[in-house]
Parts: sequence; structure tokens; C-alpha cells
Amino acid sequence: MTAKARPAPRLRLTDTTFRDAHQSLLAGRLRGEDIVRLARKMDEVGFYSLEAFGGATFETEIRHNGENPWDYLRQLKKAAPKTPIQALIRGQNLVAHRNFADDVVQAFVAHAADCGVDIFRIFDPLNDLRNMEAAIAAAKKAKRKVQGALCYAISPAHNLELWVSLAKGLQKLGCDVLIIKDTSGLLSPQTTWELVAALREVIKIPIGVHSHCSSGMAPMAYMAAVEAGASILDTAISPLAWGTSQPATESVVAALAGGDYDTGIDLEKLIEVRDEVQTLKDERREYLSPYADRVDADILRFQVPGHMLEDVHQQLGRHGAEARFKEVLVEIPRVRQELGYPPLVAPIRQLIATQAVLNVVGGERYGTVTKDLKDYLQGLFGRPPRPADAELRQMVLGREEPVTIRPADLLGPQLSGARAELKKQGVEGSTDNLLTYLLFPSLALSFFRGDLARKTPEEPSANGGEKAAEDPPADQAPAEAAAEAPTPAPAAPAAAAAQSAEFQVEVDGETFVVRVTGAGMAVGVAPAGSPPAAAAGAPAKPAAGPGSVVAPMQGLIVKVPVKVGDAVKLGDVVAVLEAMKMQNDIVSTVAGKVKAVHVREGEVVGPNQPLVEIGS
Ligand code: CO
Repeated sequence: MTAKARPAPRLRLTDTTFRDAHQSLLAGRLRGEDIVRLARKMDEVGFYSLEAFGGATFETEIRHNGENPWDYLRQLKKAAPKTPIQALIRGQNLVAHRNFADDVVQAFVAHAADCGVDIFRIFDPLNDLRNMEAAIAAAKKAKRKVQGALCYAISPAHNLELWVSLAKGLQKLGCDVLIIKDTSGLLSPQTTWELVAALREVIKIPIGVHSHCSSGMAPMAYMAAVEAGASILDTAISPLAWGTSQPATESVVAALAGGDYDTGIDLEKLIEVRDEVQTLKDERREYLSPYADRVDADILRFQVPGHMLEDVHQQLGRHGAEARFKEVLVEIPRVRQELGYPPLVAPIRQLIATQAVLNVVGGERYGTVTKDLKDYLQGLFGRPPRPADAELRQMVLGREEPVTIRPADLLGPQLSGARAELKKQGVEGSTDNLLTYLLFPSLALSFFRGDLARKTPEEPSANGGEKAAEDPPADQAPAEAAAEAPTPAPAAPAAAAAQSAEFQVEVDGETFVVRVTGAGMAVGVAPAGSPPAAAAGAPAKPAAGPGSVVAPMQGLIVKVPVKVGDAVKLGDVVAVLEAMKMQNDIVSTVAGKVKAVHVREGEVVGPNQPLVEIGS
């Protein structure tokens, strides 16, 4: 009796051009109508799926294109009826930046399925399966395919044993496919082979690999993945491939043609599509990521992606401490270890970078902590691979006990409250509107009012046009503004506006604002001690004096808990600043009375801008 040979898996490709690729390289700036037009042709190619919804693109589409993402999804489904449409969902965060209650997760997934999503790829930045359960269950209830994705990471806590146990967990939750999601291109061919082979031993569901070319290893890792038995790979049409995006579809198709792993895709069918993607890229060149054409060797050296290091560099600049870069490089792994080795994935990556900078420039480690770090230690992000350092937890939380339950269990139902609020605002209570409002409350209201003018490719980018993102209306609730304006840029001086452009670089849900001026790249404005940026024509900002509490970096004022006349003690919070998707407590470094408050909630401030004056 001979053992029946297992048929060689036919390799299928998921094309990410309409989601990850343009989010990674073009700040998510392809327009819905362009995607829909192109999708008719993509539908003929024979992809396993088109990743075309979710991640950061939902927000970008509203904010920058003034388009309703639900309308787009319905049109896309019509344009590409043969190929499954795939969405990326960050567990209990859905496509936004905070946890939602289960009723919202259920409603969002059900509506996305109704509008055209066939495959939901669901992940959690900490690989905490509890944060993925509700979304997985909702997708199954809607009778859609579910891909459970693991965020790949390298650390002493991440070994084959852990990956195997997480993969088994996802299979048990009913996932149809397991995806190894490598946001920073950390996967080497050797580790990919070992990982895929080990997972194939223990799980029955197909395995897919999603990587980015950031470090240059992805095409080799892909080859190793298929040899070890992976059956799905993620690629992008070549003009929007490479760099921080996926390997090119055409290259992978050609490389594997005729062998055991033939994708079944005809290269000729991709030529016309390629030309159109090239045209769209050319039209939107001003959004092109500075990381698009770069092999990021820092990932190979530090396992830290280059844009995280760039972020560190910028933050140090705002503290006037550029020279301390090396110290921060040593500090990052230390902080990560103390936090229990979380994967370096948004938003945890920003949290670690900011804390490492504060630990170095503050003089005392954890002398200043961000609100996100507190939340993290409290367990509100979920469970890291290893418990966070007990001493650190005690130092930051005091006697508060961290939560051990699933974070979303702290939230009551949210749908009916939102429905009532929407009614109060006089907005039609359609499911489209309700969900958009729940995810991005104030952005949604601006959108419903028609304030987010559609932009044509000819009137793109920077400053004036980005008003909605940079300058939230004064009437909106500060917390919403914070949730929705993750990286507000300072209002640019009028004179500079004409010759500077702003790039929002978005990588897997993470946004960086990069301002490029005639002189080159300049992020943020005046370092400590230099004259105020107001010189170029913006309204004069008060100069910082001895009693001034200044903004440590650019950001959005979420809260000003003090008013003139209040007595403050050393260390009292006088303002809460939202920057790089994190809320930072700004504390008084002197005791005294509040003499003046220079900012209001919802205002965008620049680095070193005085916020509050304290006097005796
Ligand atoms: Co990705």
C-alpha cells in the first residue's frame, strides 16, 4: 500500500494594491473611484482576493477624499464580482484607534459583509486572541471567510512554541486561514521556513504570509514560505510594490511560473493594470513615501523599523537632544523588555518610542510616563507575551490593580447611545452613518455636513487643504478630536505654506506627518531657544518665560484641566497633549498660581509653544 501523495498546494496571491500598498507608499491616497475603475480589470486576473478595505484607508478616504467608504465598498463589489474582497480589521479597534464594545464590532463586521467584504483578516497588535474573538465571531456569523493573522515579532518571548499555540487558538476560534503578518519585513527565509513548517505540522487550515519589503528580505522569505507549504502570498502591482510595500505581483508570478508553485496568473493580464497603477502613482507623486525606494537596513541591525527610528530622531529634535540618539537605541529594547516584549506594531511601537525618548531626556527613567503607557500597564491594550515588569507596574500604577479581563468587557453597549446622538445632531440614522460616526465621531460630523471638500489630484497635499485634519472645530468634544487627529501638524505659517508640502506617511495604520520644505526635510519647528515660528506671518504666539509650561512636541491639546487663578503643585497636570496617537500629560515643573492659559482644548500647538503660565 502506498501513501497517497498530498497534492501540491496551488499557490494563490492576494493583491494588496488597493489597501496595504497604497497605504504604505501613497499615504492611502488612491481614490475610491479610481480603485473601482481598476478593479474591473483586476477582477479578470485570477487573484485569491483583493485586499481593498480597512486598515487606515477607511479614515483616509473620509478625511482626505471626502468619500463614503461604504459607498466605495458597494461599488467595488459590483465592479469585481468574481474576486473576493478582503478587509483588514484590527481586532476590537476595527479600523480606528481605540477599543469598541462588542455590539459595535458585530455591527461593523455585519455591515462590511453586507456591503461586499468576503474575507476578513483579523489581527491584534499584541496577538491577544481575546481582542480578536468578537470580530472573528461576527465574521463567521455573517458567513464570511476569516483569516486569523499573527503579528510576527522577534524577542525572547517569541518562539515556535508560542506561534504554534497562537495558531492552534486561531484555528479553534474558527479561522479558515492562518496568516503570518510581518509588518516590518523582519522575516528571513530561514525563520519563515521553520515557522511555516512548524505550523503546517499542527494546524489544518491553509497558511498565508504577508510581509513588507522594508528590509529587502521579503521575496526570499516568500520563496521559503511556499517551499515550506504556505499557500497564499500577498503582493502588489509593481508601481506600488517594494519599499515599505509588498513584493511585486508580476515578479512573484514570473518567478514561480511553470513550477510546483505556479500561481495560475497570466503575466500578460497584468500589463494593462500595471500601466494604470503607474498613472495613478504619477498623479499622486506628492504623497509618495520617502521610504518607498529605500532598503531599511536598520531593521536588520536593530529589529526596529526605520520610520520608528525617524520618529525617535524627530522627538529628540523637539527636546533639543539629537545627540542622545544612541542612548535611545539602547533604551528601546530595554523598555520593550519591561513591557513584556510586545511586537513592534502600531500603536505599541509609538508608545515604546515615546517612552524611550522620555526615559533618556527626562533624566530619570519613567519619571514622565504617557497615558498610553499607563493604559498599557493597566492591561487596556490586552495581554503582552510576557507580563510587564512588576516593579514598573507598581511604580506607574501605584496600588491600582491591572485588569485581567478582556479589555472590551469594560465597555457597555455603544450602538444605541450613538444612534441617539446622531439624531440629536440631525443626521440621518443609516447604518453607514451610524458606524462612521461611532468610529470617527467628529470627522464623521464634518463629513456629513459636507465640510470635507473633495480634492482633485490637481489641488492636493498640504497645508490649507488639510484644515479639517489639522484644526478640528472648537465645538467638538476633545476626546473625539484626540481619537481622530492622531498626528496633527502645526498650522503652517502662511509664507511657508506656498513652498512646503506635507506628507502623511502611513504604515499599517500608523501615521507620520513629514513636512518637506524647500530646504529639505524639516519636521516640527523651532528647537528650544530659537525664535518663534510666528515670525513668518502667523499670529504671534506668546514667548516662553520662566513660569511657562511649554509643549514638548507638536500635537493637539486634548484637555486643559486648569484655569487662571488655580493653585498648582509641582507635577500637577496642566494640559493633556495628543501627539503620535498618544495622550501625554503635561505637568507643571513649578508650584504656584496659574497666571495665564494660552491654549484651548482642540487647539494644535507646536513644540516649545507656551501653554500655561505659572507664577507665585
Ligand atoms: Co502590511
